[in-house]
Amino acid sequence: MEIASIVAVARNIAIGRNNGLLCHLPEDLKHFKAVTSGHTVIMGRNTFFSLPKGALPHRRNIVMSPDEEQFPGCETAHSFAEVMTLCQGEDKIFFIGGAMIYRQAMEWVNSLYITWIHHDFEADAFFPEIDMSVWKEAEREDHFEAEPYPYSFVHYVKKEA
Ligand SMILES: NC(=O)c1ccc[n+]([C@@H]2O[C@H](COP(=O)([O-])OP(=O)(O)OC[C@H]3O[C@@H](n4cnc5c(N)ncnc54)[C@H](OP(=O)(O)O)[C@@H]3O)[C@@H](O)[C@H]2O)c1
Repeated sequence: MEIASIVAVARNIAIGRNNGLLCHLPEDLKHFKAVTSGHTVIMGRNTFFSLPKGALPHRRNIVMSPDEEQFPGCETAHSFAEVMTLCQGEDKIFFIGGAMIYRQAMEWVNSLYITWIHHDFEADAFFPEIDMSVWKEAEREDHFEAEPYPYSFVHYVKKEA
């Protein structure tokens, strides 16, 4: 199974501020939709509440929460072990944030879809350190001329142990 995190990360490793995204990048939202549609997305409860329209359509949505809370259109998981049990038999699953989930997911993921935004932002949520000795770049698409911020779509896969 491909177990991925998908995220937009600024040059200073920032990913969010005030429980929202750093900037509006329509091309990144299209990319996110194209990569994740038809698959399972897993998010923390803060990220769920940051979604303007709630559960993401055309995807199985799982929200991670320590409580018995219910989230409309979503299943709830209370641990990473429970996520893995719920997702047995899936071909691709995506952790879609936020900071707490990405940090813990690093020990589970074998694939990273990172949109590098080539700009620094003030932030209160950050991506964990990426140890490049265990990841290799599989695909890259640069958009250095893009406005208002240049960005690159990069897919990393975990090197074989
Ligand atoms: N740039 C991007 O691509 C991107 C994508 C998504 C989100 N974001 C940003 O990230 C920020 C939100 O991140 P965040 O860290 O505040 O929130 P989060 O990761 O979305 O959610 C945290 C919540 O998930 C629960 N949780 C965490 N780990 C859990 C586990 N192992 N089992 C069960 N429940 C668990 C926590 O519960 P407890 O605290 O009660 O344990 C907490 O309530 C926002 O600014 C958002 O916009 C950015």
